[in-house]
Amino acid sequence: MKNFYLTTAIDYVNGSPHLGHAYEKVLSDVIARFRRLMGDSVWFLTGTDEHGQKVQQTARKQGVEPQAFVDKISAEFVDLCAKLNISNDDFIRTTEPRHKKVVAEVLQKLFEKGEIYRGEYKGFYSTRQEQFLQDKDRNPDGSWPEIFGEVTEITESNYFFKLRQYQDWLVQFIQENEDFIFPKYRAKQVLEFLKEPLNDLCISRPRERLEWGIPLPFDSGYVTYVWFDALLNYYSAVADKPGVWPATVHVIGKDILVPPHAVYWPIMLKAAGLPPPKSILAHGWWSINGSKMSKSTGNFVDAIEYADKYGADSLRYFLIREMSVGQDSDFSHAQFLVRYTSELANNLGNLVNRTLNMTNRFAGGKVPTVEAEETAEAELKSLWDRTRDEVIALHEGYQFHTALERILSFVTATNAYIELRAPWKLGKSAEPRDQALLRTALATMAEALRLTAASLAAVMPSTTQKIQEVLGHSAAPAWRDELRWGNRLAGNQVATSAILFPRLVEPKPEAKC
Ligand code: MSP
Repeated sequence: MKNFYLTTAIDYVNGSPHLGHAYEKVLSDVIARFRRLMGDSVWFLTGTDEHGQKVQQTARKQGVEPQAFVDKISAEFVDLCAKLNISNDDFIRTTEPRHKKVVAEVLQKLFEKGEIYRGEYKGFYSTRQEQFLQDKDRNPDGSWPEIFGEVTEITESNYFFKLRQYQDWLVQFIQENEDFIFPKYRAKQVLEFLKEPLNDLCISRPRERLEWGIPLPFDSGYVTYVWFDALLNYYSAVADKPGVWPATVHVIGKDILVPPHAVYWPIMLKAAGLPPPKSILAHGWWSINGSKMSKSTGNFVDAIEYADKYGADSLRYFLIREMSVGQDSDFSHAQFLVRYTSELANNLGNLVNRTLNMTNRFAGGKVPTVEAEETAEAELKSLWDRTRDEVIALHEGYQFHTALERILSFVTATNAYIELRAPWKLGKSAEPRDQALLRTALATMAEALRLTAASLAAVMPSTTQKIQEVLGHSAAPAWRDELRWGNRLAGNQVATSAILFPRLVEPKPEAKC
């Protein structure tokens, strides 16, 4: 059994979960479920990133203690995972003792090895926002935006992690490990960033400025910089589980690839004497109706609301079908409805209804055996064989959107096969040949539906299960076997009906006067 350790980014808890968080969890879940189906031993971690300035400020504004504040928001992320049927094995919070302990141990080790030193940090500081500013925060004319209030240049004593000495090693590592970053073209972006000399990383914040963090084990006047703390979650969650580290893949958004995941993280591990992760998958970003997601302007999609209204699997299907992993995509309600109605309700839902309906009408609800296989059956079967091989290969390469497209094309072909065979006509004929053909058609459509359901297992686990239930079928333990055409349902008693994707009664837009 191959070990497969998969993580998502851990989410900031200064706001409630949104569609971007939901996507990342669903994408990671599809990978985790797929690897389990392939027989790997999977460990799937997600969690929340709970320290830092923003959390401290937001809690203060709301008049609550930071711990009470993070407990509440972190619970919302746990609920999101449950709602979306995410199969994570663990959920880590950076405020947990198990995490803090490992962060302190790693820091102490690095300090003793001489990888951390004390130095002066000089920069522009906004007292109102309680943060150091960067040149990119300036207005185009060089002044500082209003929101920062008075900005002064200050010097502060801090601790620094020696990043620069590992720069050449990192460049070579990325060049030699072609599969380290997915999609491959993003590695270029990292190498481009590494053309400039790296600055050592300031990893401490004086306690008088920031209380809400993990104290440095070697100087209690400071807390740890939030990224240094957060990245270590991937290791701290499995530090006591032998054989799990290194991670097989870190799933993250493209915004946090450079520098945190592709630069700081491998160097932190190298310096601590730990092996680097095998790969990092950077996905794209969702916009909503063509513009940036924003709660304040109302350009916002509540993933939980969609899952409640249309079912978690419908949302999972849409997110995975619509976005090609690595690229950006736009979410619009109209597009969601198009896919829900035409692909799920009218195509897949229709195949389920017809299969149950006709098996009940013409065979007393019992799946018959194949008796008269002809060209139409052979063609559908060979389309399936091609589809199955492609679907597995596309899953392996994270091309889930194309895999879904192929599966739904197979559903379309099965519906066309039903039209061609027209069991409702064959059922009226007393001819023995027509009766044999009818039984063959019923067996073929049931088998096609079984295979469709199996192939959707990573993306739509509840749908797969429901279809298997109505077909009276329990899946083979190995996915590859389950995906083989084999007329396995003969003799099964099927349910009388199943509504997987209810037709929608959406309010019509109001008529204009
Ligand atoms: N806390 C850091 C990550 C630390 S990992 C050691 C963080 N948190 S976040 O809440 O801002 O983002 C969490 C994840 O959600 C990131 O991978 C980010 O890219 C992703 N997304 C946030 N908005 C998104 C979209 N609009 N679309 C897709 N994913 C997005 O960064």
